[in-house]
Amino acid sequence: MNREQFIGIAGGTIIAAVTTSYLLSDKSNLSRADIKPSDDLPRQRLRDRTETLQPDEKEILLLASLAPSGHNTQPWFVQYLEPYHWIIGNDRTKWLPAVDPTQRETILSIGTFIQNLEYAAGAFGYLCDWNLLAKTNQDDRVMAVKLIKQTSKNPFDTAKIKNRRTVRSDFLSDVLKPEDLKYLVNSEAEFIHYLPNTSQESQFINEQTIEANRLQADREPAQQELADWIRFSTKNAEKYRDGLTTASMEIEGIPGWVVRNFYNKDNVMKKDFREVGIDKIKKEVSESAGWILITSKENSVATLLETGRRMQRLFLKVWEKSIAIHPMTQILEELSTRQTLNQSIGISENIQFILRVGYLKNYPEPVSLRRPVDWFVRK
Ligand SMILES: Cc1cc2nc3c(=O)[nH]c(=O)nc-3n(C[C@H](O)[C@H](O)[C@H](O)COP(=O)(O)O)c2cc1C
Repeated sequence: MNREQFIGIAGGTIIAAVTTSYLLSDKSNLSRADIKPSDDLPRQRLRDRTETLQPDEKEILLLASLAPSGHNTQPWFVQYLEPYHWIIGNDRTKWLPAVDPTQRETILSIGTFIQNLEYAAGAFGYLCDWNLLAKTNQDDRVMAVKLIKQTSKNPFDTAKIKNRRTVRSDFLSDVLKPEDLKYLVNSEAEFIHYLPNTSQESQFINEQTIEANRLQADREPAQQELADWIRFSTKNAEKYRDGLTTASMEIEGIPGWVVRNFYNKDNVMKKDFREVGIDKIKKEVSESAGWILITSKENSVATLLETGRRMQRLFLKVWEKSIAIHPMTQILEELSTRQTLNQSIGISENIQFILRVGYLKNYPEPVSLRRPVDWFVRK
């Protein structure tokens, strides 16, 4: 074999090896649409838990579970008492102690689940009769609900639940139009406050969001917690069906491929990963129509649940208007930024949500994953 032949054969072998490795690699971002209904068949050991569920009960719970939650932990469970009579529970294994030590965000997230559940039940012809059980943010049993058959004159369009998602990139910088703002705020002006990107308050939230993210990235337990909730590979994403995936973090193309195939928790703890994260935040806050803050009068469980519901009612209105909502909670999670917030922006009530908002050219498809109903129903 002469030199040219050798180089030719070796080169061909390398190309074949690289192509094969690529074909065998984790090639594309896993999206919600990639999960087939057959993947949701109850695991054998769980089957007896959900065999009793009526088809519409299962549909309602599935729609409820499309609610948003911090790090997509989905901190709810459903205790099945009898048909159409359940307890909505707080799953302590899904708490985020490093960023949410008082479970404030957990209860807000359960509030979003409860709002979805009520709208979904309405779409299937049921009215919800709620009964608050929890006295603290840590109680396992949060609310009991009975679904009562009653045809609604104006059933909720479940497409809004199915299409809602958190969007983080490519916000336009136009401020919200007065008619859209009116539609979003509706009769809740007491609790929903819009800070247009032209205002000083909005600039302040931009700066503080960057600062709070920097503080949080430097806080080891918070960064470790984030690492624990990232589902790097498609295999892990399919296994857990929760947390943050490359798709939901909007890491596309070659960077997405690199993260899926070569990254693990250790990478998240490295300096360059933290720096890239901050750069992403800087870019995000530079693009928006401003911020929406959701406030509450006090901090009881009932009020936090109602605030979660309020935020979800708002969130379910934006898809049809091509408006993105991106909750950015770090200011509230870091003590030093939280302490100066109210005074600096002149709001005396409790700020529960900080939402970046902005128009989009196109509202993208939802991508974050959810655990199948069978995994969160307990008998
Ligand atoms: C209480 C709460 C806090 C959140 N905080 C953040 C946040 O700080 N940063 C962020 O990017 N997303 C945040 N989110 C959005 C979640 O990450 C998102 O809802 C979850 O990943 C599921 O995705 P989806 O909303 O597209 O269904 C938050 C959501 C909730 C309900």
